[in-house]
Amino acid sequence: MDFELKTLTPARICAEKCDALIVLVGAETWTGADAVSALAALAIKAEDFENKAGKLLNAYRPPGIAATRVLLAGAGDGSVKNVRSAVHAAMAALKTTNVRHVVLSLVGMAAADHASVRAAVLACADATYVYSTTKSKPAVQKLQRVVVAVSSLASSRAGFDKGVGLSKGVALAREWANRPANHATPTLLAQAAKELGKLPGMRVEVLGPKEVAKLGMGSFMAVAQGSEEPLRFIVLRYDGGTRTEAPVVLIGKGITFDTGGISIKPAAEMDEMKYDMGGAASVLGTFRALAELQPALNVVGLIPACENMPDGRAVKPGDVVTSMSGQTIEILNTDAEGRLVLCDALTYAERFKPRAVVDIATLTGACVIALGGVRSGLFSSDEALAQSLAAAGDSSLDLCWRMPLDDEYAEGLKTHFADVANVAGRAGGAITAAKFLQRFAGKFPWAHLDIAGTAWKSGTAKGSTGRPVPLLVDFLMGQVQPARPAARKRSGSRA
Ligand code: BES
Ligand code: MN
Ligand code: ZN
Repeated sequence: MDFELKTLTPARICAEKCDALIVLVGAETWTGADAVSALAALAIKAEDFENKAGKLLNAYRPPGIAATRVLLAGAGDGSVKNVRSAVHAAMAALKTTNVRHVVLSLVGMAAADHASVRAAVLACADATYVYSTTKSKPAVQKLQRVVVAVSSLASSRAGFDKGVGLSKGVALAREWANRPANHATPTLLAQAAKELGKLPGMRVEVLGPKEVAKLGMGSFMAVAQGSEEPLRFIVLRYDGGTRTEAPVVLIGKGITFDTGGISIKPAAEMDEMKYDMGGAASVLGTFRALAELQPALNVVGLIPACENMPDGRAVKPGDVVTSMSGQTIEILNTDAEGRLVLCDALTYAERFKPRAVVDIATLTGACVIALGGVRSGLFSSDEALAQSLAAAGDSSLDLCWRMPLDDEYAEGLKTHFADVANVAGRAGGAITAAKFLQRFAGKFPWAHLDIAGTAWKSGTAKGSTGRPVPLLVDFLMGQVQPARPAARKRSGSRA
């Protein structure tokens, strides 16, 4: 979908030719003499429409308006969140129509600034996304062009550009997390990363079983050993900062399918475990957005990718393996595999002398129980890092919630047979998983995002959400030091 930003007056909006004109209606009073204002005022007065977020009113060829249809979309008090809901509802209503060219008017909205323009663009892309990779007849996307109309370019341009860049990252993350596991193997994931490596400022390196064995990643290898699909360890680099600047490292859990292994999962809904690489998908999506936005900082992405399968050669409950850190691990439950691949990636991250490491993982069902699908779980032993991530969640409307890391939660990980066990009891499962990871993250400021509840929707809207790409991108943009020189200009850096 193509986006364009334009300044328009209410009168000009009425004259804009398009298939559909979406007018966001906030708390402002509609006193203008133009046809759109008159329509809005009339509908509100007649109580056929109210400005509640998500409410819609459709009009076909209304007089004095060049657009074929007009959609009034209630945006409540005009908050960024309400703008998002309004645009989402309106675009979703147009998804299955003939509409190709949309004008989306934010003109007159109280908060038509950076954040709401960005939210509007993201909501457009989000509402019209269709998965079609494994359909024999790919759905035809009729909606092709959205013109976002605002009162002032100056206050909207940056938000608009950010929204467009971010939407590409979110779409990529959704795409990969939605793909069935036989269409998103570790090898295919690595190929997708290689494609990103062609974008400006990007480099990608992929390690296979031999290199990973040489590094001593015994924990990661133990998870992969039950599968016919060879593991991949993907290293992405975005260099926007100076050569000497310490990078931020993002680590994404890349379990392309999680059967549970020998500790096998029940059959019901096991198909959904294709999104157990949602963390990896969010890292790929974040790098896609970085390629668009070109911030002045260095970022490393690490993705340990493999399947978790039961097999004659699979790792067994009670097996003890040696991680890259040298710590031995008793694998009491082969379904707690995410932490086993992440711990070796955390140790690998040390070589970058990072200023911060954030791992992103669909790690525990317990986190789904604790926080549902609204907020991701945020764990961090570093106050400043925790605050930056929480703030990025708020500003991007991609929320997270800080969880505790008291040492008492690690008691259950003790075992007689190794340095640490990979599971504790059922109680506080999301926290004990984080405590396991923390043992491998002592050499840098570290945070962990448990996205098991937020990366995916079950039920009628079944599919990936692209979260937490917005949170990660806002976090990274906030890491750019204002005094530093801007990113090196590269040709073709903008789409
Ligand atoms: N990938 C799952 C976690 C998960 C569950 C993600 C539901 C999304 C939705 C993870 O590998 C897992 O199986 N975790 C176990 C850990 C347990 C064995 C300690 C879990 O949550 O049950
Ligand atoms: Mn599992
Ligand atoms: Zn898993």
